[in-house]
Amino acid sequence: MELQPLGTSQIQISPIIMGTWQAGKTMWADIDDKQSVKAIQAAFDAGITTFDSAEVYGNGHSERILGKALKGIRQETVIATKVFSNHLKFNQVIGACERALNNLRTDYIDLFQIHWPPGSFGHAAVPMEETFKALNQLKDQGKIRAIGVSNFNREQMEEAVQFGDIVSLQPPYSLFWRHVEAEAAPYCRENGMSILAYSPMAQGFLTGKFGPDHQFKKGDHRSANRLFRPEHFQRVQGALSRLRPLADEMGVTLGQLALAWVIAHPNTCAIAGARNADQVRQNAAAAQVSLSADDLAAMDAIGRSVTEHLDDDPVQWKW
Ligand SMILES: NC(=O)c1ccc[n+]([C@@H]2O[C@H](COP(=O)([O-])OP(=O)(O)OC[C@H]3O[C@@H](n4cnc5c(N)ncnc54)[C@H](OP(=O)(O)O)[C@@H]3O)[C@@H](O)[C@H]2O)c1
Repeated sequence: MELQPLGTSQIQISPIIMGTWQAGKTMWADIDDKQSVKAIQAAFDAGITTFDSAEVYGNGHSERILGKALKGIRQETVIATKVFSNHLKFNQVIGACERALNNLRTDYIDLFQIHWPPGSFGHAAVPMEETFKALNQLKDQGKIRAIGVSNFNREQMEEAVQFGDIVSLQPPYSLFWRHVEAEAAPYCRENGMSILAYSPMAQGFLTGKFGPDHQFKKGDHRSANRLFRPEHFQRVQGALSRLRPLADEMGVTLGQLALAWVIAHPNTCAIAGARNADQVRQNAAAAQVSLSADDLAAMDAIGRSVTEHLDDDPVQWKW
């Protein structure tokens, strides 16, 4: 897999990144630790060098599984993790980093990201200056190599860059969720930042695996994904039926088509979440799929049949 720079940093990342929210178990159903470890190792064997986690994914469980799976190969990989919006005060950021280092069995984190902007989920609206004081100190100490943000809009990024170097934005981005294109993505491109797209398969909707009568298992948070609402879900099914012939013609799966569409955009990598090794291998192979200008235009039009009916709220879920 051809690596690319993470923003303006010296770090090289893979275009397909493995997402490990699933490995954290909470908010998903039927996740098995052994399968998670195998999935992470299969990702590395398939050329994925870069892994995304967060302290909030199972209260450190995802980081611990990642640390276990990468034992012996850590130096050949790039680890991104995140501090949650309830830990943005100076000492809390330092504490979150120390816990992550311990969980991940490493002495440095390649990319440490602010998971949600200050004030999210009713948490304290800690001034960005304070959070960045801690992040900059961690960077000076070599405990983190680069700083990223997630779920920030353009205005929030403009404020944040006054206090530190930011190399990446992690927004939701897929054929079915394109809010980032309006303002945040152009800002990233103007400023040499990478876009690390989360939910690039729209949490599985773009794989076509959820038919019209699908019911998510108890505990699977995707029942709160707004694409699952009847009015959107019907359009999702319509769009999938138009994407299927394109995928068949190219000899790829719908999921691979969705990932290839995301990484066809400049400065953009796809964080593909997976629960097992089979899924990871398929996702890694999407890096080899090349789309023509005609393919991209056709997919763009199909995606818009879903996205043009969504409101301006960039958050995928209504809890
Ligand atoms: N920064 C943030 O706020 C934020 C938010 C969300 C996610 N993320 C990150 O982004 C990652 C990816 O996002 P996501 O998990 O929400 O969405 P996603 O990657 O679009 O979808 C993942 C789901 O798609 C299905 N899937 C994956 N590969 C498949 C394959 N080859 N064949 C069939 N189905 C497949 C699986 O569903 P099943 O489980 O049903 O098998 C999997 O759980 C996360 O793991 C996390 O690291 C970050």
